Amino acid sequence: MKDAMTIRSFAEMKKTGRKIVTVTAYDATFAQLCEAAGVDIVLVGDSLGMVIQGHPNTLPVTLDQMVYHTRIVSRGLSRAFLVMDLPFHSLPVSMESATAAAVRALSEGNAQAVKVEGATPFVLQLVSHLTSHGIPVMGHVGLIPQSVHQMGGFRIQGKTPETGARVLDGTRLLEEAGAFSIVLEAIPHALAREITDAVSIPTIGIGAGPHCDGQVLVSYDLLGLNETYCPRFVKKYAQLAEIAKQALGDYASEVRAGIFPPAEVRAGIFPPADERGGKPPADERGGKPPAESPKPDKP
Ligand code: KIV
Repeated sequence: MKDAMTIRSFAEMKKTGRKIVTVTAYDATFAQLCEAAGVDIVLVGDSLGMVIQGHPNTLPVTLDQMVYHTRIVSRGLSRAFLVMDLPFHSLPVSMESATAAAVRALSEGNAQAVKVEGATPFVLQLVSHLTSHGIPVMGHVGLIPQSVHQMGGFRIQGKTPETGARVLDGTRLLEEAGAFSIVLEAIPHALAREITDAVSIPTIGIGAGPHCDGQVLVSYDLLGLNETYCPRFVKKYAQLAEIAKQALGDYASEVRAGIFPPAEVRAGIFPPADERGGKPPADERGGKPPAESPKPDKP
C-alpha cells in the first residue's frame, strides 16, 4: 500500500509540481472508489445539501449530518486525506461553536482537516486558533457557496481589479493564519494563476482554470449522476445517470414480466456464492448473525 497522504505531502507536491487530485464523497462506497482511483484528498463537502439532500443550496446542512457523512466516508479510505467542510450552521455563531465543530470533525468524523469558507476577520481568527491547536485547515475563497445570498447567487467572483485584489489578499491572510491549502472557486484563470504564484501553500481550483496546484470536483457532477444542475466548468467523465436509469428500467421490466428473479431462485435453489462474486450472508452459510450488532450511526 502507498504511504498515506498528509499535509506535508501537499506542501511537497506544490514544490515538485505534482497536481493534487481532490474529489467530494459522501458515503463509504464512493470513498472506496476514490481510494481505488488514487485520489489524494477526499472532501466531505457541504455540497451534500444539494447533491444528496436535494436542497437548492448548502445552507440547511447541519453539523450532525456532516459528522455522520464524514465518519462513513472515513471507513472507505486508507491512503487519501479526509477533509470535512464546516457547515454554515457551525460558523457564524461563535468561536466556541466553530471550534467545537472542528473538534467533532476530527474526533467523531475521523477527518484529518476541516475546510472553512471566506477570509473574514472571524474566519482568520478561527484558522489561527484551530491550526495552533493541531487542527489543519483548508481555506476556500472566490465563490463561497455559504454566502450565496450575500453574493446574489452562484456567480464568478474577482472579475474586477478591486474584487480580484480582495480575493488575493484573502488567500495571503489565510496562508498567514496557518491554512495548509486553499480552494479557489469560480474566479478568472489569470487571477487563480496570480494567487497560485503568490502563496506558498497549494491552491485547489474548481472552475478556476488550469494553473492551480490541484483540482476539485463534486463526484456526482464528474460522474454525470446529477441531472438537476451542473456548473458549466464541470467535465462529465461518465454518464452514470443514463446507465443507472437504463439498469433500473430493465429491472422494473423484468420484475413486471416475471423474469426476475429467475425460476431456480424462485424454486429456492441459490447459485453458489462464488458465481455471485461475493460471500453469501451468514444465514445462507448456516452461521448465526453476530450476537451484538454494531451501534448504528446517527445522522
Ligand atoms: O462543498 C463542496 O463540495 C465544496 C467543493 C465544491 C469545493 O466546497
